[in-house]
Amino acid sequence: MIKKRMQDAMNDQIQHELGSAYLYLAMAADFHAKGLDGMAQWMEVQTQEETVHAMRFFRHVDERNGRVELKVLAAPQKEWASPLAAFEAAYEHEQFITARIDELVKVAREENDNAALMMLQWFVNEQIEEEANVTKVIDLLKLVGGTGQGLLMADRELGTRVFVPPPAGADAAGAPA
Ligand code: FEO
Repeated sequence: MIKKRMQDAMNDQIQHELGSAYLYLAMAADFHAKGLDGMAQWMEVQTQEETVHAMRFFRHVDERNGRVELKVLAAPQKEWASPLAAFEAAYEHEQFITARIDELVKVAREENDNAALMMLQWFVNEQIEEEANVTKVIDLLKLVGGTGQGLLMADRELGTRVFVPPPAGADAAGAPA
């Protein structure tokens, strides 16, 4: 059975992951409103990924006989000054999430919770990818500039992103997805 301290920390993380989904969905809505449907698609895929992240914590707490507790999600920002500003905000947010994962690892170590440590290893690796993905977009946007043909090319490129659901059997213990 999961200890209360670990359970509480994971419930906080469910809130953070769903909060991430909410933030990226707000960015998708802003991009759609501005006719940047490719960037909106990128953010919609990111929203789905964040929901998967939240569900990994949900299942882990539940399967270890803990109690999932859902918390309030604050309304996200509605509009960003430019695509670059939105992706830079996303990068800042991912750094915050990485710090949260590191904090969870610390709690798992202190509680001698090996099951949580194994599950969290997936997230440690995932956060490297999460930060790298956003950084790549920021680099692209800086390269092409914020207007005209370059922006349309970047929009088309980002619109090719598709959501890949985790394979069946990617479980709460953090099996590779
Ligand atoms: Fe779930 Fe983007 O971190």
